[in-house]
Amino acid sequence: MVEGSGGRWRWLAVVIMVVSVSEPALSNPQTNQVGVLGCSPFNYTDVADSMRVLNATFADLRNQLSSDNKRFATSTQQPVYAMAQCRNYLSTADCVACLDAAVVATRNCSNKTGGRIIFDGCFLRYEDSYFYEQITDAGTYPTCGKRTDPKQDVFNTTAKQLLYELQLATPRINGFFAAAKQEASGGGGSGGAAFAVAQCIETIDETGCQACLTITYRNILGCLSKSASARAIAPACFMRYSNKRFFPNNQTTNLAAFLETGSSGKKKAIIGGVVGGVGIIILVLAAIFIYRRSKKPNAARRGNILGATQLKGPENYRYKDLKAATKGFSQENKLGQGGFGDVYKGTLKNGDVVAVKKLVISSRAKADFETEVRLITNVHHRNLIRLLGCSAKGEELLLVYEYMANASLDRYIYGDKRGMLNWKQRVDIILGTAMGLVYLHQQFHVCIIHRDIKSSNILLDDDFQPKIADFGLARLLPQNQSHVSTKFAGTLGYTAPEYAIHGHLSEKVDIYSFGIVILEIISGRRSSDIRVEPVTEYLLEQAWKLYENEEHLRLVDSTLDPNDYTTEEVKRILEIALVCTQSPPSLRPSMSELVIMLSSSDRSIFQNQPNRPTVISDLGNRVQVLSDTSATTASSTSHATASISDVSGR
Ligand SMILES: *[C@@H]1O[C@H](CO)[C@@H](O)[C@H](O)[C@H]1NC(C)=O
Ligand SMILES: *[C@@H]1O[C@H](CO)[C@@H](O)[C@H](O)[C@H]1NC(C)=O
Repeated sequence: MVEGSGGRWRWLAVVIMVVSVSEPALSNPQTNQVGVLGCSPFNYTDVADSMRVLNATFADLRNQLSSDNKRFATSTQQPVYAMAQCRNYLSTADCVACLDAAVVATRNCSNKTGGRIIFDGCFLRYEDSYFYEQITDAGTYPTCGKRTDPKQDVFNTTAKQLLYELQLATPRINGFFAAAKQEASGGGGSGGAAFAVAQCIETIDETGCQACLTITYRNILGCLSKSASARAIAPACFMRYSNKRFFPNNQTTNLAAFLETGSSGKKKAIIGGVVGGVGIIILVLAAIFIYRRSKKPNAARRGNILGATQLKGPENYRYKDLKAATKGFSQENKLGQGGFGDVYKGTLKNGDVVAVKKLVISSRAKADFETEVRLITNVHHRNLIRLLGCSAKGEELLLVYEYMANASLDRYIYGDKRGMLNWKQRVDIILGTAMGLVYLHQQFHVCIIHRDIKSSNILLDDDFQPKIADFGLARLLPQNQSHVSTKFAGTLGYTAPEYAIHGHLSEKVDIYSFGIVILEIISGRRSSDIRVEPVTEYLLEQAWKLYENEEHLRLVDSTLDPNDYTTEEVKRILEIALVCTQSPPSLRPSMSELVIMLSSSDRSIFQNQPNRPTVISDLGNRVQVLSDTSATTASSTSHATASISDVSGR
């Protein structure tokens, strides 16, 4: 039912959008709520029976947490998977009281199949699928407090040092919990001290805990310059800091003991906020871990609550309803032209505004249509456009998507809305796009390679958060045709050379395109524009040359305010873009590694300088390699054709 669908998604949107964090302590500071109450969008089918099981599960969790020194519990009774955890500094009585408050709060999810609430003192979560090893999802974010410290600068440095040590030590501590205090570096006890805790769930291992805390640490750093307190949450871990004590003195962990190396016993050099050698290893481990875990086709990979809950079939819309909604697919309702067909704005009978895509695919692909649509319907991530449903019964194949009021990114970079995005918004768009791609590549239960990442496929929501469109559809194209011909020519500037020339497909194809999108975002230039005076190179060639000559700032879009960015930042982002566009593809990082690079302001996490990229161009229907990694000369103006490959012949 169309009605049902619209209502459901509006509801979900409310849950995701309203992030209310009450900073002042409530009557019980432990039940100060962190972030939103998350509820699954789906209902139990057998409500009475499920509620009985849910009650029994909560009772079991309570029973477990009532025993001394037990602060973590899971309980599984079909169809409920549930988990609860208290911060270790809580007494048993406080822990149970916190859980009780959490149970009351999740009752607001009524008969939904999942709920999650996070308090300062504890958290509770239940789902109808396995999630005990899930590290991150769309509900992984920091919330910065509103107060600032009188000496925020001093506090910033102190807290950063503390948090850095905390995220390193906690995974090595039995029980994955640490609470610690750090005096202000100036000493003298004149304030500026920082207090912090970190905690992981106990159903993951040390590497998983480190992976999670690496992410929350990166997230919470964003609060340090402006807030005297903050929390960062993820499905598998929690981190919090404050300039005020929030745990008993006698609960402080001696972090130093866990920062020693095993054999030498030498304390590792830790410089405040600087991720040194240890950090690099940890970051790489974290990235590998996320990657390894996400390769497993596991129910946990299907995502939960703030991502999605269970595999559901797509909503079936009636052709005539969609025809009416789009005024008969009128020109006036046409939003644009995608790689797979035209897109129209539609207003459904219930008032919901949607985007309807008329698919143009071969009849052979129709057989796969339903499978693919089912798959895409279950992709839930805040940086990916939601597919609401489809209509396959009428004369055409139609896909119904959520509607984005703002235009696609290309129009903001070099189109009619040029100059409207500031530097910070651009950096956020880069990071958001990366998050969406991590989900597609590594966190969804199958790896989805987009194959057509470009600025016009990235839409912006009301807050200018990016949402990637058109994913999953390339799978409907026949294997050997997807990278060639007409469609291909239009997006050449974004296409990885190995894919353009040989049709070699891997996730690294998206990484390359993502690198090009980054370059477009910072330069305001279109990647496929050939000669823009006074520049006489393709965007990628130009970017490489400026990077090599250390003239990074010359790449930056002239519509940006020069006070908004620093040379260091530009260099860092440019380097990330160039690392993405390297060849062979094995040199390109994975999406999860990129997220870590992008979230870190520290350039030392790069172990390799980017290599000179391969630049390709199309000449009619031929693809030409303009410059190759093997080229010895730094001058990219010498367009010696290294190899020519006839694409249309493949
Ligand atoms: C579950 O517990 C709630 C709250 O205690 C109660 O209102 C409800 O009736 C219980 N449901 C069942 C099926 O036992
Ligand atoms: C910590 O101190 C409190 C009183 O401030 C006391 O009740 C508690 O037993 C102490 N805990 C430990 C582990 O020493």
